[in-house]
Amino acid sequence: MTVQDKDFATLADALKAHTGRFTDKKFDWKAFPSNVGYDDLARAQMRYIGAGGSPKVGDTSTLKPEHFTLSLIYKEPGRYAACHSHEIEESFLIINGALIVGWEKDGEVVEVNLGPKDMILNAREIGHGFRVDGVEPVMMSISVDVGKPLPPVYHYHPKDCAPELARTFGAEPGKTLKFDPEGDHPLQKLMTKYVVRHSELETHWEDAGFTRKIYCGPGGVETDTCRKEMLGVPSRVGVKPFSRDVEDAFLVLEGSLIVGWEEDGETVEVELGPRDLVQTPAGRKHWFRNNGAGHATVWYVVGTAEPETVKFEAL
Ligand SMILES: [Fe+2]
Repeated sequence: MTVQDKDFATLADALKAHTGRFTDKKFDWKAFPSNVGYDDLARAQMRYIGAGGSPKVGDTSTLKPEHFTLSLIYKEPGRYAACHSHEIEESFLIINGALIVGWEKDGEVVEVNLGPKDMILNAREIGHGFRVDGVEPVMMSISVDVGKPLPPVYHYHPKDCAPELARTFGAEPGKTLKFDPEGDHPLQKLMTKYVVRHSELETHWEDAGFTRKIYCGPGGVETDTCRKEMLGVPSRVGVKPFSRDVEDAFLVLEGSLIVGWEEDGETVEVELGPRDLVQTPAGRKHWFRNNGAGHATVWYVVGTAEPETVKFEAL
């Protein structure tokens, strides 16, 4: 299958237009109108694919979302995000720092502390908030499925309740439980299905010579939207061209990765460094390879939750 993309004169132009460079982008401190006037809620967003939870859907510097959005969120120590819910699923992948994520139901809150490469998928309609209690800022990648991008519904926003209650996501003193996979509380049990610890996640070695840790999708957190994986690509490892019937995206976390596209025998490649991304549309033949001396760690999002259909072959 080939993609006739009439918007671009050349394949190189098309690949460039589907590449998001960290250094070409800016963090937006005004992405979330509900935070305006509340310094404790301040956070910055860098949009790669779509607008995520921000209403800034008209930003022409971001890629058009198909099945998922992807952005970076930066939050400084002492700040928090007020408890809210969505009709969609939303994942937080921690890149740097430690983030407390709280889930609330009926005035009770379960809090989990997530570190680098840990993830939580916030379930539909579950009240959730987050807070930086650590000494360093948090950088994380947020993806939401874009079925019905409605504004978030706030449950405990400081405009409606005491700031102390908003900071604890709606838990009065004594109503906060720690995350515990062995815990008996229904909210602990529910959250256990949605929290991924990098160190506890099985590492699968592909025959093609790279590793996959499956965060969301068959083998990971159950979802009906998108697969999310972390790839480890050793130096001088790569795969032959493959295509999908949905879009996918590579976001490099560490090292560098070359992503290539092919159409009608013509090929183009782009090298990505940390926090650079390529979104490849459905049907496009593409591949990746690591031409660096060190390994690459890559966050990989695929626009379906169906089981993998690609059999990766080594270059
Ligand atoms: Fe959210």
